[in-house]
Amino acid sequence: MTPTEALLAGRRSVRGFLPEAVPLQDLERILRAARSAPSGANLQPGRFHVLTGTPLADLGRALTRADRDGRPPVAEYSYFPQPMPAELKERQRVAGFALYAALGIGRRDLAARKAQFSANYSFFSAPVGIVVTIHPDMGKGCFMDLGMALMALMVAAEALGYATCGIGALANHADVAHDHLALGDDEMVVCGIALGRADPDAAINTVTTERAPLASYASFTGFDPQT
Ligand SMILES: Cc1cc2nc3c(=O)[nH]c(=O)nc-3n(C[C@H](O)[C@H](O)[C@H](O)COP(=O)(O)O)c2cc1C
Repeated sequence: MTPTEALLAGRRSVRGFLPEAVPLQDLERILRAARSAPSGANLQPGRFHVLTGTPLADLGRALTRADRDGRPPVAEYSYFPQPMPAELKERQRVAGFALYAALGIGRRDLAARKAQFSANYSFFSAPVGIVVTIHPDMGKGCFMDLGMALMALMVAAEALGYATCGIGALANHADVAHDHLALGDDEMVVCGIALGRADPDAAINTVTTERAPLASYASFTGFDPQT
């Protein structure tokens, strides 16, 4: 395995963090690495609002309140296909149950499941929370570019010994994040990212996820299998 393959294979989403602060210099490094991602016509779409301390706690409280009050979701874009095809719904279910199983939460324990879900809105108590935005006029290709920047960010963080978790759930209360950060009309909230040192004792961090087999998503044509 190359070091890059090992880094990719070793990365996983972490939802339990140590309270240790993350130095600004490390975050600047990570964000520079994110921006090194390629993008169509070098448009470099997307912005990253990196928060820690009181500003992060305040945003977390506002989002948590919106979630607890049952405020109707106001997403600024649709993350998943609507409706979700059965095959993908199944993947989502498996990933969700793995998470709840790691915490000893039963499949029917809706209250405990909801409580765990609400942890999304406090960025899983990570010392750093990032709100990722994109210009609302950007096309699907630009979302792809932003995805590459997100992956570069995650891998750069891993290489420095940090862990991350994407938080698409943030987009459910995009309006809250938008208002809280006083974002303009030129920014649409895409997702959040929690970042920090992984808590080695957190049960939630024992979750592992499977991947589809190679043959189900890639085809190879014209190759000599002997080489
Ligand atoms: C953009 C993005 C958004 C995500 N949103 C959430 C989320 O809202 N809550 C959560 O617990 N995990 C979230 N995840 C983590 C995924 O569930 C996770 O990546 C997937 O299950 C595969 O597991 P792994 O990252 O450990 O390999 C998100 C991941 C990405 C890349």
